[in-house]
Amino acid sequence: MSIQSSQDVLLVRQTVRQFAIKLGFSLVDQTKIVTAASELARNTLDYGGGGTVKLEALEDGRRRGLRLVFEDSGPGIPDIDLALKDGYTTGNGLGMGLSGAKRLVNEFDIVSRVGEGTCVTMTKWK
Ligand SMILES: Nc1ncnc2c1ncn2[C@@H]1O[C@H](COP(=O)(O)OP(=O)(O)O)[C@@H](O)[C@H]1O
Ligand SMILES: [Mg+2]
Repeated sequence: MSIQSSQDVLLVRQTVRQFAIKLGFSLVDQTKIVTAASELARNTLDYGGGGTVKLEALEDGRRRGLRLVFEDSGPGIPDIDLALKDGYTTGNGLGMGLSGAKRLVNEFDIVSRVGEGTCVTMTKWK
């Protein structure tokens, strides 16, 4: 899915919710996933200058999962540890998006290169 506007962020939220329901996640987990996805989509738009999110269903033999991969070709994140600190923002936000999203899922990974872009992957297992 493309993320180029606030309308797209809303569409991501709705699509991720439907996907989580289809995969059988509980209402509480759905809300965690959608909240994290919303923060990451917002960052992709606001800081990454727009980008994409890929939705993946996972199956590792014992359990099912949902993976979201957000990618942009924006300025990148110079210091990822700093960006993950509660309250750190270079914009007008609360600086709780990345740190909050990380706490809501099982696996969370950021790959970023300054001047090239950012890729954030989050996975929630059932
Ligand atoms: N996709 C991105 N591209 C570049 N910088 C980013 C990206 N996502 C996050 N950041 C940086 O990480 C900081 C922290 O993000 P976040 O925790 O969501 O807080 P907020 O959105 O309130 O600033 C941002 O202020 C920004 O500097
Ligand atoms: Mg944010």
